[in-house]
Amino acid sequence: MMPKTNPEKPILRVFAGDVVSPSPVWMMRQAGRYLPEYKAVRAKTSSFLEFCYTPDAAVEVTLQPLRRFGFDASIVFADILVIPDALGQKVAFKEGEGPVLDPIRDLEGLKKLNADGVITHLAPIFETLKRLSAEIPKTTGLIGFAGSPWTVAVYMVEGRGRTDCERARAWAYRAPDEFQMLMDILVDATSRYLIEQVKSGAEILQLFDSWAGVLSVDQFRKLVIKPTRRIVEIVKAACPTVPIIGFPRQCGVMIPEFVRETGVDGVSLDHGVPLDWAFREIPETCVLQGNLDNRLLVVGGDALDRGVDDILLKSKGRRFIFNLGHGIVPETPPDHVQQVIDRIRGK
Ligand code: CP3
Repeated sequence: MMPKTNPEKPILRVFAGDVVSPSPVWMMRQAGRYLPEYKAVRAKTSSFLEFCYTPDAAVEVTLQPLRRFGFDASIVFADILVIPDALGQKVAFKEGEGPVLDPIRDLEGLKKLNADGVITHLAPIFETLKRLSAEIPKTTGLIGFAGSPWTVAVYMVEGRGRTDCERARAWAYRAPDEFQMLMDILVDATSRYLIEQVKSGAEILQLFDSWAGVLSVDQFRKLVIKPTRRIVEIVKAACPTVPIIGFPRQCGVMIPEFVRETGVDGVSLDHGVPLDWAFREIPETCVLQGNLDNRLLVVGGDALDRGVDDILLKSKGRRFIFNLGHGIVPETPPDHVQQVIDRIRGK
């Protein structure tokens, strides 16, 4: 169990072992295009990565949802694809299409990756974290994050987001040693990146494994559980008290094994996971986070209230962090976010 580091922050109290009521709440992608004030700042920079590497802009858009909604945690504004970018792969974000990368599909491509400059390249994100830790309210937790090796590898190999990951899955079967090289590079770069985030002020870390659900059981153990366990070990060796949240999306019955084998302190659940089942199957030492359907947040009204109430009922008396099952989508009306916060806090 974690030492009671900062009793003023409800989210850290949950990791320290307390049941906090009402549960702390934050939302994945709480900064983003559903907020007009985000779009206004974003419009000033054409390249999304450049935007992530501009501390003035990144600090501002991280703070925007806090000002509006008073979330219990703030997540540093960046992206999971800064790691391939820092390794020297070409990464671009195209309007209406999302990320586009120069795909890596063979040993030649792997050999071009260079891990030496990762920390220097990502220095602006550490600067953003330092400023945020000075600027956020004293009751708000500061979350750092990275993509998990498997999910980042999917983008690196496929070259884009809309995919069923066929090339990455095939490569991992066809040439496991080559694919392992890629995973090792990512474990190393991601661990160093996360440790530096903690040194810069991150109080909690989250690992996003958005594509974890496409794997067979054997490959899930090899490409999700093992690399995540390595990252947890390396980060904890340097930063023993920082809580780490895993997010193995759409992994259903494999989640208890994921928790047991990786040593994460918390697990973020997608909306397909029955909360009562998760509370039964996952040891109490692991904090659960989740898992409102992000579509309900678009719909609003009574349906949204019922969705929130269901989660509140099932998580009552437990160590829990209220969140979505996946990130906020751009068409979400900001008022619906406020509706959720008010319902949780009983206003
Ligand atoms: O508020 C926050 O949550 C912090 C910032 C954050 C972003 N991306 C900003 C972003 C976080 C935590 C992420 C994580 C991320 N990025 C994931 C994991 C979570 C998930 O959604 O599954 C993934 C897979 C990515 C990769 C990525 N980045 C994609 C597929 C896209 C395009 C889709 C889209 O929504 O546009 C992005 C772009 C991106 N990352 C935007 C934001 C706010 C939108 C781009 C813009 O504003 O121009």
